[in-house]
Amino acid sequence: MIKVGIVGTGGIAEWHASAFINNKNSSVVAACDINENRLNEFCDKFNIQNRFSNVDELLEKSDVDAISNATPDAFHKEISLKAINKNKHIFCEKPLAENFADAQLMCDSLKGKNLINMVNFSYRNSSGLQELCKTVQSGEIGNIFHMDANYYQSWLTSNYWGNWKEHDKWLWRLSTKHGSMGTLGDVGVHIFDFASFPIGKIKKLNSHLKTFKSKGVQIKDYILDANDTFLSMVEFENGAIGTINATRFATGYKNKLELKIFGDKGAVKIEFEDPITEGNRYMISKDTQREITVKEDKLKWDEISCPPTLTNFEKFIESIIQNKNHEPDFERGAEIQNILDKCFESSKDGKWVNV
Ligand SMILES: NC(=O)c1ccc[n+]([C@@H]2O[C@H](COP(=O)([O-])OP(=O)(O)OC[C@H]3O[C@@H](n4cnc5c(N)ncnc54)[C@H](O)[C@@H]3O)[C@@H](O)[C@H]2O)c1
Repeated sequence: MIKVGIVGTGGIAEWHASAFINNKNSSVVAACDINENRLNEFCDKFNIQNRFSNVDELLEKSDVDAISNATPDAFHKEISLKAINKNKHIFCEKPLAENFADAQLMCDSLKGKNLINMVNFSYRNSSGLQELCKTVQSGEIGNIFHMDANYYQSWLTSNYWGNWKEHDKWLWRLSTKHGSMGTLGDVGVHIFDFASFPIGKIKKLNSHLKTFKSKGVQIKDYILDANDTFLSMVEFENGAIGTINATRFATGYKNKLELKIFGDKGAVKIEFEDPITEGNRYMISKDTQREITVKEDKLKWDEISCPPTLTNFEKFIESIIQNKNHEPDFERGAEIQNILDKCFESSKDGKWVNV
């Protein structure tokens, strides 16, 4: 049984706890948070006995095999390094770090340690994405020429999750001083992974990040200076070009991802709001050479249902048991971190940047 300690017991930690408790090969034996009320509420809910106010104490006093790092972005590096230093396997929330240099440092700290490491790019949990990836990489839709990917959230315009102005969990996401890289670091990190997983490495990009002052500039000690929305043009190493975009102003969309990839023999697309229940299929069109005798309204797309895939949480535990690191690992986290850094550089200088 793999014993997991959860650090940071906020929103996403509930997913971590449920996943590790429901896995027959793991249990959650300890948790820590700097907010005592939140820690107790969380531990009561998941029946966790060992409660700590900081990670050092947790690492010192509890007997864990692995740390699940569910703290805000600004603490990913510090807490992961402490866990690695104590020879604990590490599952870290995205984005891996606050910049590429820190992400590289985290990868370097693993060298020679034989520790399983994983970054939680959650949309890998979509079996449709996994199968779409295999289809693209098999060459079935030919050489890739064009792609478009979008990530739509609406918490800055919708009350679906409550009023963002009243909750720390939204406010830290809008403040660079609190370690946020805005929409780019929060969900851009997902959509860059999502899009480049099937297509391959991005060679260069031109990104435009925008912060809208009209929503307000400061609440409590949160200065609302992180980007709210971004657009990126990209060119991949295989020559394909496309756009990758994300926003928090997408009224009507709770949390939607979509990806379209066009090759010279066909096209694939996937879209969903929930990676497990809606992400278990993708669409393919190979309607390229058909003789069309009667004029039809639409060209043909086929829906492909996909068998369930392991979630990142399941892959992490399986990796520890088999001593073989599944993807997405820290190296992948760092690769995406490098892309984020390049988006900032491009947006600042208003020009194309090599990745
Ligand atoms: N993979 C995903 O799809 C996904 C979804 C949501 C959030 N996240 C990521 O998870 C992380 C947490 O997000 P959240 O929405 O749960 O935030 P949150 O604000 O709801 O929770 C964070 C918790 O960490 C605690 N904390 C802060 N600093 C700490 C420290 N030094 N030690 C221990 N605890 C500390 C806070 O008190 C809080 O309870 C972020 O990095 C976010 O990007 C990932």
